[in-house]
Amino acid sequence: MSEVDNSSRVALVTGGSRGIGRAICLELARRGHPVAVNYATRPDAAEEVVAEIESLGGKAMAVRADVADEDQVTDLFDAVSEGLGQVAVLVNNAGINRDNLLLRMSTEDFDTVIATNLRSAYLCTKAALRSMLRAKWGRIICVASVAGVAGNPGQANYAASKAGLIGFAKTVAKEVGSRGITVNTIAPGFIETDMTEALSDDVKAASLAAVSLGRFGRPEEVAALAGFLASEAASYITGQVVMVDGGLAI
Ligand code: NAI
Repeated sequence: MSEVDNSSRVALVTGGSRGIGRAICLELARRGHPVAVNYATRPDAAEEVVAEIESLGGKAMAVRADVADEDQVTDLFDAVSEGLGQVAVLVNNAGINRDNLLLRMSTEDFDTVIATNLRSAYLCTKAALRSMLRAKWGRIICVASVAGVAGNPGQANYAASKAGLIGFAKTVAKEVGSRGITVNTIAPGFIETDMTEALSDDVKAASLAAVSLGRFGRPEEVAALAGFLASEAASYITGQVVMVDGGLAI
């Protein structure tokens, strides 16, 4: 049972069709939020998440948009407000990596990662704020990474985008706090998803050795925090960075 009626608090999760985003969609739906599942390329996966939410008795829709593109973000918010209502909970989750040591990194890979991970949050947060300011209530949650706090060799572009998200979230938290809107950042460590599946066994073994809890995390363990940060119970928490990393960054 959710603590309050969330049925009018529409949630939008960017990159919600798989991995951490999918788990966040399901967690928010379980808490009673109607959920817009944004996806970039895989409508089938997004429709599966929608079907799973509907089978739990929830409301959801899938919406395609490249969240790094301003016009597509405008269309995304129009579609969500038409289909479910104005966004009250925004989860900036969409993200990619293009790893390489800095000297081998292409400028294109640098720019693409910054645009997908950081520019997207700027565009979506700006689009979401208008209705949140009117409602005097809102929750914005950014999914960063331990790499954005501590750095990680081979991820200068990714770590810069995630560190940028942290500064962005803290600033917006200060700008809109007086209007009942909280802005927080989750910094996951190593979570079992398609993104980490692509890493080599050597990199996985080295990462695992540094995790105090001795195992990788599950998307649901990140989603649990997102659900909490979206709730009334988290109403006095803003501008924070919370690590969900099994002790990786201790
Ligand atoms: P994933 O690769 O499984 O999912 C990423 C999602 O973002 C996908 O649904 C993808 O379609 C979407 N996406 C990518 N570019 C997009 C765009 N331009 N427009 C709309 N959607 C787009 O990865 P995962 O692991 O679920 O990652 C989710 C978030 O968590 C990312 O921001 C990632 O950086 C972050 N993260 C993941 C960690 C992990 O260990 N898996 C660790 C730390 C952070």
